[in-house]
Amino acid sequence: MASGIQTPYYLIDKSKLLRNMEKIAHVREASGAKALLALKCFATWSVFDFMRDYMDGTTSSSLNEVRLGHERFGKETHAYSVAYADYEIDEVVSHADKIIFNSIGQLQRFESQSSGIVRGLRLNPGVSSSSFDLADPARPFSRLGEWDVSKVEPIMDMITGFMIHNNCENKDFGLFDRMLGQIEERFGSLLARAEWVSLGGGIHFTGEDYPIDSFVERLKRFAGDHGVQVYLEPGEASITKSTTLEVTVLDRLYNGKDLVVVDSSIEAHMLDLLIYRESAKISPDQGPHRYMVCGKSCLAGDVFGEFDFRNELKVGDRISIQDAAGYTMVKKNWFNGVKMPAIAIRELDGSIRSVREFSYADYEQSLS
Ligand SMILES: Cc1ncc(COP(=O)(O)O)c(C=O)c1O
Repeated sequence: MASGIQTPYYLIDKSKLLRNMEKIAHVREASGAKALLALKCFATWSVFDFMRDYMDGTTSSSLNEVRLGHERFGKETHAYSVAYADYEIDEVVSHADKIIFNSIGQLQRFESQSSGIVRGLRLNPGVSSSSFDLADPARPFSRLGEWDVSKVEPIMDMITGFMIHNNCENKDFGLFDRMLGQIEERFGSLLARAEWVSLGGGIHFTGEDYPIDSFVERLKRFAGDHGVQVYLEPGEASITKSTTLEVTVLDRLYNGKDLVVVDSSIEAHMLDLLIYRESAKISPDQGPHRYMVCGKSCLAGDVFGEFDFRNELKVGDRISIQDAAGYTMVKKNWFNGVKMPAIAIRELDGSIRSVREFSYADYEQSLS
């Protein structure tokens, strides 16, 4: 549907978001696990009022995120960061009801400042579902969490729970189940003394064919066997397939392939795809006209991908890049000064409203 909003813009579709929210709500109800939105993946707070009814709160990776979670989402607010600075910690604690330290060193350093709230520690089980070194929390020499049980045991009186995030884009329930078994084997003695365990994010349980019932049963068994409150930290699973990046064709070229240049940039607006060397998606990707869809930044490899279209593309045509919510808006940047996509919401009744537009002043003020 055409709207009066100038492209480029991210378009969050509430009816699609609702599908994920309903699945999350079901998993919470059926398993007893709590679900916290991982703000690192998605922090577009205009839809928090909508998401709040289906989730228990937020989790964070920094002072800014924990503050946003507290102020804009509310409910339970978990603080986690790879490392906190001395000047941040009091403010972090003021926004959180739980703080999870990444290391024993940080836990001890901030023992007195954090004594008024629930504390936990990140554990690293040394196994992960990631095939990408860059995103593998269990990569060799990983800084993400403690792994040595004999070092954790002596500080157990300072904490009541753990966070273990080792899944990554994991669509395979069998693999999740096996890795959870390895975690139980490795950290069983610690889990027995914990009151709560967050299993992190990276589990694609809102995906189309995910065996939700088996997932629910496994979470329940884990909670029951160890006597813990389970938390999940869905980022991508919360917002998957809810959002498009709406762009317009600015130019056409032929250099052995048909190319179009659009008024956006994969580097500036969907950076994660570039980092992980993945193609964007369009839907339907079918038809007799194949084009390479390119961004307008100067980066030679600023390419969204090659797609099949029903009709020949011409200047002024609109393209919807699919699945543009996770790790996109939180990573957007001003490279080349490319116009920052606005943010728009399609309401449940189909109407579209713009909730944020960016101007030259925003670009200018992003530097000095
Ligand atoms: C600690 C932690 N929790 C939650 C998440 C969210 O993961 P995802 O967006 O894949 O669900 C991440 C992602 O890196 C994470 O590091």
